[in-house]
Amino acid sequence: MTYLIRRAEAEEAFELADTQALAWRETYRGLLPAPVLERMTAERLVGQWRGHLRRQASDHDELCIVADHHDEIVGFGACGRPRDSRATFDGEVTMVYMRAAYQGVGIGRAMMGAMAQHLVRRGLFSMGLWVVRDNVRARAFYEALGGRCEGGREERMQGTAVPVVAYIWQDLAQLSRAGTEHE
Ligand SMILES: CC(C)(COP(=O)(O)OP(=O)(O)OC[C@H]1O[C@@H](n2cnc3c(N)ncnc32)[C@H](O)[C@@H]1OP(=O)(O)O)[C@@H](O)C(=O)NCCC(=O)NCCS
Repeated sequence: MTYLIRRAEAEEAFELADTQALAWRETYRGLLPAPVLERMTAERLVGQWRGHLRRQASDHDELCIVADHHDEIVGFGACGRPRDSRATFDGEVTMVYMRAAYQGVGIGRAMMGAMAQHLVRRGLFSMGLWVVRDNVRARAFYEALGGRCEGGREERMQGTAVPVVAYIWQDLAQLSRAGTEHE
C-alpha cells in the first residue's frame, strides 16, 4: 500500500478531528463506556486540534503527523515534551491512531519511527506513552516495537476514570530506525 507520512498542516484541523472521531469509535467500542464515546465527536475535537496545530507552529518540540493515502488522512500521531512534569521519560507520544482498514500494514510502525526521529533530532533520549490498560492490541504493538510496560494509573476521559499503563523506550535512537526499516 502506498502512503506518505508527513507533518500535519494548519488547515487540517477538521479532517484530523473527523478521522480521530472515527478511529476512537473503532478502537474503543466495548473498551470505554458508551457515553465517553458519544461525546467524542468531530465538532468537539476540532478545537483541540486547532490547539495542537498552533502549538506545533510555535514550539519546535511538538509534532503532529499524518498518514496520507491518496490525499486522505488515514492515520495520525502527535508527540512532544511530556504533559506531566513528573514523567520519567524525555519525550511523549500523545496519540497514534490508524483507521481500521489501514491497520496491520506497517503504517503504525512507520509513524512511531517518524515521531522517534523527530524527538531524537530535538535532542531527547527516551520516550514514553500512556495506553488504555485493556487495549490489548495496541499494547501488543508497543511490545513488538520494543516498548517496556512500566506502571499504571487512572486518567479521566470525558469525566470517567480509565485505567492506563505506560510504555517506555529508553533508547529512542533504536526506535527511530523503525520508520525506515520496513519502507
Ligand atoms: C496500534 C496501531 C497504531 C498499530 O499500527 P499498525 O499500522 O496497525 O501496526 P503495524 O502494521 O505497523 O505493526 C507493527 C508491528 O506491530 C505488530 N502488531 C501490530 N498490531 C499487533 C497486534 N494487535 N498484536 C500483535 N502484534 C501487533 C505487527 O506484527 C508488527 O510487527 P512486525 O513488523 O514485526 O511484523 C493501530 O493498529 C491502531 O491505530 N489501532 C487502533 C488505535 C489504537 O489503539 N491506538 C493506540 C492508542 S494509545
